Amino acid sequence: MENAPARRLAPSLLSADFARLGEACELARLGGADWLHVDVMDGDFVPNLTIGPPVVESLSKATTLPLDCHLMVYRPEQLVPLFAKAGAANITVHAESTVHLDRLLNQIREAGCTCGVAINPATPVEAIRPVLGIVDLALVMSVNPGFGGQKLIPYCLDKVKALRDLRPDLDVQIDGGVKLANLDAVLAAGATNIVAGSAIFGAADVVAETRAFKARM
Ligand code: DX5
Ligand code: ZN
Repeated sequence: MENAPARRLAPSLLSADFARLGEACELARLGGADWLHVDVMDGDFVPNLTIGPPVVESLSKATTLPLDCHLMVYRPEQLVPLFAKAGAANITVHAESTVHLDRLLNQIREAGCTCGVAINPATPVEAIRPVLGIVDLALVMSVNPGFGGQKLIPYCLDKVKALRDLRPDLDVQIDGGVKLANLDAVLAAGATNIVAGSAIFGAADVVAETRAFKARM
């Protein structure tokens, strides 16, 4: 995989203690995390409600790590300017969440962020194939989004592999159920950008766990 981008680890703050997010960012940074993954849920596109732009703004002041905002919301076009202004480095939107995906991805870029496109487990790679040339990242959800701590759905690795075969240079992110125990399989499928929530922030020693992931990547 000589053309594949450098591998990155993006711990998901969803599994951190929301009363101590600044500390969680610092522990991940000390462990060598590359990005911080911020799960934005609207209680509609997914059955949970989490973080909004004011929290992202505070996080951007609390850490030097790039904030990777994963929008699991309907009408993402209304929120993109707010997250960009709040300090998001990357904004990833779901193909299933909008009718005008091309317009939305361009909107993210025009707002000054890199952009990603995500697909749920049951959405085929074919759904995002036309836009692969205009994104910085493709996110394969390996659980049904909404909650941390779920089990990785194995057939999603086939989609990671399909994306890697289609675009050897693409940053392919995987999100959901990634643990040290399945990390090798996830990397072998071609994922270059690893999100891990409960595995990292559920660990007794967050710094050591982050380091253990990085050492294997
Ligand atoms: C799920 C979120 C994930 C979540 C992953 O909807 O998009 O980012 O935090 O958590 P784990 O790694 O515990 O599956
Ligand atoms: Zn996520």
